[in-house]
Amino acid sequence: MRRPSESATRRKVLVFRELPIDQLARLQALHDVTVANPRLPAEASAFNAALGTTQGMIGSSFPVGSELLARAPQLEVISSVSVGVDNFDLPALAARGIKLCHTPGVLTETTADTIFSLIMASSRRLVELANLVREGRWTRSIGDELFGCDVHGKTLGILGFGRIGRALARRAALGFGMPVLYYNLQAVDVASELPELMGKVRPTSLDELLQHSDIVAVVLPLTDETRGLMGAREFGLMKSGAIFVNGARGAIVQEDALLHALDHGSLRAAGLDVFSTEPLPLDSPLRRHPKVTALPHIGSATLETRRAMAVLATSNLLNALAGEPPVGLFKLPS
Ligand code: DGY
Repeated sequence: MRRPSESATRRKVLVFRELPIDQLARLQALHDVTVANPRLPAEASAFNAALGTTQGMIGSSFPVGSELLARAPQLEVISSVSVGVDNFDLPALAARGIKLCHTPGVLTETTADTIFSLIMASSRRLVELANLVREGRWTRSIGDELFGCDVHGKTLGILGFGRIGRALARRAALGFGMPVLYYNLQAVDVASELPELMGKVRPTSLDELLQHSDIVAVVLPLTDETRGLMGAREFGLMKSGAIFVNGARGAIVQEDALLHALDHGSLRAAGLDVFSTEPLPLDSPLRRHPKVTALPHIGSATLETRRAMAVLATSNLLNALAGEPPVGLFKLPS
């Protein structure tokens, strides 16, 4: 039986992606919760029905545009279980005064680990050579047609020097002796913010970075400015034999241009965790391309980190609904 004061503050919450059971219980203790995944045909109508009265939403990997927002007239806050906010129509949220929360910080190191794994896998041909063993094709010592190339000591160019870019730079510069170039829209005060990287990282223009890096890794957010940033011109600027890695968002890359650079240009290999369409369509030429190591968008996908993201996203939603400042409040455009 609810006490009157309790029911007065209970809000309608819509959970649109699975949450750990204990985090769901935190929400259910304080609010009236509907769990409905709009990607599942069996749950789409429950999701649509709940939108009309929902005040708080929590989930990820589903586009929230102005049409959906128009069907949620009472919505006050969305808590995304992700750091990326490219699924959301930010101006529409700002215009409605709807708060958006996300999960920065807790996934930084794990995502940098994934991107560094792609650098290693692409350079040393790890997946290709592991498959040789798995499939019984290791019948003699491998020759130089299957040799990879070194990672240590190579120049790494990082597009985007936020939390994840910096974590990647630490791995490269301090662990692998790699000179690091970075391209970032805002200036970074390396001496005060990253003293351990002083003298080991250098800001450049986009073109200079592409021309001088042996390995280029993308960790930029997807915005109007970065959509399609890597096209034919940019791949054409990269060094002969360079490696391209994308751990950010697929739409930052023009995939046709990447394929052309792999097939007809001088790109050695690509390591991709993200694609313009996810899951990657079965007929995508990137899926089985011999020079591509493709992962199913697992940047933050470890048991520890996905749990930390769910806990933070749940706290963000509870705080916002209680009128308290959420740790992961995203600053919407004004
Ligand atoms: C993120 O948190 O943005 C990851 O890419 C998962 O979407």
